Amino acid sequence: MTDMITRAQATLRANDRDGYAVPTARLYPFQWNWDSAFTAMGFSTFDETRAWREIERLLEGQWDDGMIPHIVFHAPSDDYFPGPEVWGTTHTPPTSGITQPPVLATAARCIFDTATNRGDAEARMAAIFPALLRNHRWWEAARDPQRTGLVALLHPWEAGMDNSPAWDRAMARVPTDTATVIRRRDNVHIDPAMRPRAEDYQRFIHLVDLFHDVGWDPARMYAVSPFRMADTGTVSMLLRAEQDLLVLSQRFGGAAEQQEIAERIARQRAGIATLWNDAAGIWMARDLIDGAPIEVGTSAGFLPLYAHAANPGQVRRAAATLARWAGCVRFLVPSTDPAAPAFEPLRYWRGPIWAVVNWMIADGLAWAGETALAARVRADTIAVIDNAGPREYFDPTNGNGAGGANFSWTAAIRLLLAA
Ligand code: DGY
Repeated sequence: MTDMITRAQATLRANDRDGYAVPTARLYPFQWNWDSAFTAMGFSTFDETRAWREIERLLEGQWDDGMIPHIVFHAPSDDYFPGPEVWGTTHTPPTSGITQPPVLATAARCIFDTATNRGDAEARMAAIFPALLRNHRWWEAARDPQRTGLVALLHPWEAGMDNSPAWDRAMARVPTDTATVIRRRDNVHIDPAMRPRAEDYQRFIHLVDLFHDVGWDPARMYAVSPFRMADTGTVSMLLRAEQDLLVLSQRFGGAAEQQEIAERIARQRAGIATLWNDAAGIWMARDLIDGAPIEVGTSAGFLPLYAHAANPGQVRRAAATLARWAGCVRFLVPSTDPAAPAFEPLRYWRGPIWAVVNWMIADGLAWAGETALAARVRADTIAVIDNAGPREYFDPTNGNGAGGANFSWTAAIRLLLAA
């Protein structure tokens, strides 16, 4: 076992809080939705039981309508803003009122497929499957009421890629006044130059206040939100998760469920196809308020490969785009096109490398037959982690670590890349 594998396992153990892992101590002291999905897969490489617990504890936060919130506040902490008192939702345990990319069905399938304790895996998966199905139904009912195949995000935090330049245009229409007093804690833990700006937070919290005022009702949130975005990342993770759910439904569901999931897959496949930008050679987000395409390349723009939603021509063009990016930076994959004016190599989702996105892109490239590029992305991911440790993100120009240290999902990806 290499030193970094030992360290990655130790990171997950150290971040364990009674069956769920915090993304990292202090900066993120609760359970986060998509972090946990990756973390569970990481645990599955050395502790299957703990992997299942991660999913089960996340599902304690699931709402009656099927929504899985982006944060579950299992235990109090003063280290984070906005805490449960700002969200003001009514769930027990307390949760936020928005969601995050749906990676959970993919994680559950991964853990199920690799489990060695088959009896335990069968029992736990049978218990989890209905919750996953309810969650996928929620996505379509709450976020794609017209059944276009493109679900809408109502807050940049739902993308998990909070300050991506892909949201700049739409967020410009979100006012900066807030009823809630903003008391940021992230800037106390991390260099502010690596975090979203003050103005970003004003708009983030304006949206939280707005949704709070409509009682966290999904239809009213959808109606009042000035931010309604088809994100290439989320739609791809959802489509991939639907395909994993379909496989699980063959064992844990019935014919009706299989039919229902297959229909959503067909709709989502058609929806993603409309996000392809032929001139740029990458998929791009769409503003669902006015239908405008978002003309900025981000790493999320490669994720339709991970959703298996690309034709051979698109694969060739997307691979050429990624090769162009590789010519501008030392390590792949920067979160923003390094030739774009918005590129900032150290500011959170405006340039840094994120191991989880790399893992998905590499998976998609391998599926598409781009094996050399897939190997390059995997090797770069290992190189930056082994050089800097399991940091939150990495500077693509030199591989330096940035943001929080001892990050669960980065450790998890290192374990998955070794497995
Ligand atoms: C944060 O607080 O930075 C998170 O990304 C929002 O969930």
